[in-house]
Amino acid sequence: MDLYEYQARDLFESYGVPVLAGLIADTPEEAKAAAEKIGGTVVVKAQVKTGGRGKAGGVKVVHNADDAFTAAEQILGLDIKGHVVKRVMIAQGARIEKEFYFSVLLDRANRSYLSLCSVEGGMEIEELAVERPEALARIEVNPIAGIDQAKAEEIARAGGFPEELVAKVAAVFVKLYEVYKGEDATLVEVNPLVLTADGDIVALDGKVSLDENAGFRHPKHEALEDKDAADPLEAKAKENDLNYVKLDGEVGVIGNGAGLVMSTLDVVAYAGENHGNVKPANFLDIGGGASAEVMAAGLDVILGDPQVKSVFVNVFGGITACDAVAKGIVGALAELGSAANKPLVVRLDGNNVEEGRRILNEANHPLVTLAATMDEGADKAAELAYAAK
Ligand SMILES: Nc1ncnc2c1ncn2[C@@H]1O[C@H](COP(=O)(O)OP(=O)(O)OP(=O)(O)O)[C@@H](O)[C@H]1O
Ligand SMILES: [Mg+2]
Repeated sequence: MDLYEYQARDLFESYGVPVLAGLIADTPEEAKAAAEKIGGTVVVKAQVKTGGRGKAGGVKVVHNADDAFTAAEQILGLDIKGHVVKRVMIAQGARIEKEFYFSVLLDRANRSYLSLCSVEGGMEIEELAVERPEALARIEVNPIAGIDQAKAEEIARAGGFPEELVAKVAAVFVKLYEVYKGEDATLVEVNPLVLTADGDIVALDGKVSLDENAGFRHPKHEALEDKDAADPLEAKAKENDLNYVKLDGEVGVIGNGAGLVMSTLDVVAYAGENHGNVKPANFLDIGGGASAEVMAAGLDVILGDPQVKSVFVNVFGGITACDAVAKGIVGALAELGSAANKPLVVRLDGNNVEEGRRILNEANHPLVTLAATMDEGADKAAELAYAAK
C-alpha cells in the first residue's frame, strides 16, 4: 500500500524525522485557512499517488493566503498521469540551499535491503539515474544489522556528501530506517531531502510503501487505506477475503487456484475472439475450500459488476472434491436468489467429478449450463455474454 505524501510526512514526524509543518485541504477555502495558519511562504502540493507532480504543475510556491487559494483552485481537479487531484497539502516553505536524495527499499532480487543515495537530489533524479548512474550510490543494507550511524555515514559518503554534512544527514538516515523497519515498509524515499539556509536537514517530500502482508501487526495502517479510491467491487471482495481483480470485459470468471484462474482468463479471451471480442471481466480465485459460503460471496461480487453478462465457473476438484463444489454452487444460487440473474457456465473436473455433475444436473437450475471441458466452457460463456450484450 502506497501512502500519500501527507501521510508519509505525519509518519516521519512521529519518528522524529525533521519535517516542516503541513496541513491538508480539500477546497481552496481550506487551503487559504491552512496557509494563514502556517503563515509566510507556503507550497501548495497535489496529493496523488504518482511521481512527477512538480513537473505536471501540481506543486506551487506562494507567498500569501490569497495566492494559496488560487493555487489550490488550479491544482484541485488537475489530472496528473490519470490521477485526479482531490486533496492538496499546504506545506511550510523551506529556504532551500541544496537538494539531496535518499531511499531504502526491499531488494527482492538480492533478498536484501538496498539504500540509494545521492547528493544531487530533486526533480531530475530519474534522469540522473539513467545518465550518470555513478552519481547515485547503491548500498546493500543487511536486514539484520539495519542502518546505524556508522552504516548511515557509509551511505552518505558513497552518495557524495561533503564531510561536514555526513554526520548530520546520517542521523536523519538512521531515523528514516527506523520508519522503514518500524512500519514494515517496502520503500521509504525522500526526494528532496534538503539543506536549508539555516543549515538544517529537512525531509520535504516522502514516499512510503507499506507491506500489506504485515498489516496484522499494524492496526493503525488500516486508517491509512484509501477506501474511496479503491474500486467498490474490489473493496467488497477484500472484505470477504477474496482474491479479486476487476478487469474490463463481460465474462465473469471464478476458479480455484491462481494458476487455473490465470489460464482461464487466457482461454476466455481466446474464445471471445469468436464471439464479438468479449473478454474476461475479472480475476477471482476462491482458493481451496470452495464452500457454498465462499462461492456465494464470489458470485455476489461478480454479479454486482454491471458489465458482466455471463459467468464461467472453472473448478478443479482436489482436496475439496467436485461434489462439495457442486453443493457450493447450488447453495450459493439458493442463497443469492433473484440476485443471481446471469447465465452460469460450470466446468468441473478432478476428484469426485461424476458426483459433482450429478448434483448440478439434479438441481437443474435454469441459469446453469454444464461444460465438459475448459475450452468448451469458455466458448459457451463467451457466446452467452455476446448474446446478452
Ligand atoms: N516545502 C517546500 N518548500 C520549498 N520548496 C519546496 C517544498 N516542497 C517542495 N519544494 C520544491 O518543489 C520541488 C518538487 O516538490 P516535490 O519533490 O514534493 O514534488 P515532485 O518531486 O514533483 O513530486 P514526486 O516526488 O511525486 O515526483 C522540490 O524539489 C523542491 O524544490
Ligand atoms: Mg519529490
